[in-house]
Amino acid sequence: MYFCLMPDFYKILLKNNREWVAAKLKEDPEFFTKLAHGQSPPLLWIGCADSRVPANEIIGARPGEVFVHRNIANMVVHSDMNMLSVLNYAVRVLEVKHVIVCGHYGCGGVVAAMTNQHYGLIDNWLRHIKDVYRLHNKELDAIADEKTRQRRFVELNVIEQVYNLCKTSSVQEAWEEKRSLQVHGWVYDVANGIIKDLEVTACDDKDIPHYYRYDF
Ligand code: CO
Repeated sequence: MYFCLMPDFYKILLKNNREWVAAKLKEDPEFFTKLAHGQSPPLLWIGCADSRVPANEIIGARPGEVFVHRNIANMVVHSDMNMLSVLNYAVRVLEVKHVIVCGHYGCGGVVAAMTNQHYGLIDNWLRHIKDVYRLHNKELDAIADEKTRQRRFVELNVIEQVYNLCKTSSVQEAWEEKRSLQVHGWVYDVANGIIKDLEVTACDDKDIPHYYRYDF
């Protein structure tokens, strides 16, 4: 937060970088040399762009351990070439063993999608989240308390994005080839730092309706 108050804050970032490099080299003089040989992360993280949810930091992962894709409200939109390319590369080339969709309570995108407010261009992105509301409107409309309803909507949105991953040909192809690939749904609480596992892990195509399945 204090960065914003400093006119040359970007210079501080560069200074921080040099200090980080020095600290890493002190720990391990080969740190960067080893990373330069390539990456083999076991995990693809699909998270929200929110600045309070830095993927590596909250799970204690080091450089080289997490392949990351982030967008507003951690969405898996089936026509999003950016997400699909990241997913395909992670699954086919890097052969990650886990894909984690991590949402977070208090997500601005999810909260906005619960309102009727018009925000501009982003309305079109938030529409995908409104579609999740439509799928679960009975459950959500029955929750009287707004905060509780928001939190449940965050969870249901993550669960739907896990299903959306299962519907992709990249994930189904990996399962068809009997490769070990698990898709998980998590929610991070920005108020206490704790991650909740929604326990919707998918590791095969048995729960995918027939019309979403591909023959390979
Ligand atoms: Co968010």
